Amino acid sequence: MKPDTAEIERLNAAAAGGAEALLRALVERNGRAVRLASSLGAEDQVLSHMLLGIDPRASIFVLDTGRLHQETYDLMARMMSRYRMRFEVLFPAAEAVQEMVRDAGPNLFYAGVEARQRCCAVRKVEPLRRALRGAAAWITGLRREQSAGRSRTPFVEWDAEHGAIKANPLADWTRDRVWDYLRAHGVPYNLLHDRGFASIGCAPCTRAVEPGEDPRAGRWWWEWDAAKECGLHPPAGGS
Ligand code: ADX
Ligand code: SF4
Repeated sequence: MKPDTAEIERLNAAAAGGAEALLRALVERNGRAVRLASSLGAEDQVLSHMLLGIDPRASIFVLDTGRLHQETYDLMARMMSRYRMRFEVLFPAAEAVQEMVRDAGPNLFYAGVEARQRCCAVRKVEPLRRALRGAAAWITGLRREQSAGRSRTPFVEWDAEHGAIKANPLADWTRDRVWDYLRAHGVPYNLLHDRGFASIGCAPCTRAVEPGEDPRAGRWWWEWDAAKECGLHPPAGGS
């Protein structure tokens, strides 16, 4: 149910106290109907560490597209033993994947933006809808610094498409701040970052970036004119 504007304002005010204060406010108000979306990237590791500190049984979900890196699965396993936690794992609908691969091949994403978006729709966007069914709020690791399209990301907004509050507690964090936090708290991270990966996506669609290169340059690098978004975070949602 859509909260009144005052509730969104209260949560945005809580965000002024920092990312952890916002997470705490979300959990106090919504309990386990708060769900963290994790790609196992650096930002999501910060948020997982904070959220599990608040509630060791907090709900953290991973959209397993079936095309993730082995290093990402390794980190999932390390998280499970380090924090004694479990991930909610969502797979794409088997029949939709089967039909898409039969029709357009396993590497359809390289054929053009439309084909790439079809794959993201089947493997990410539809499972996200399922992940958020019944959720009061979801948390993402979006940061304003990540791209021009994300530069106006608010801390808290109403996500009409999913009927839930969308919270981006790290919206104003810099990349250095993320890494300082991970080091200071000894949080495990995806080893792909040591190999130059700025963000973690699907294996065939993510590559390392050069120092100083735009962090989003490693995503769908063969696309020049697209917004480089997969549909998880459409413009109305802050991207
Ligand atoms: S993406 O939309 O291009 O994939 P990005 O990799 O920058 O986005 O991640 C932004 C945020 O989206 C992450 O911090 C996380 O909250 C969410 N997210 C991205 N990929 C996944 C995934 N596979 N499973 C769960 N959440 C994800
Ligand atoms: Fe498919 Fe690539 Fe999108 Fe992953 S990032 S869902 S493999 S197009």
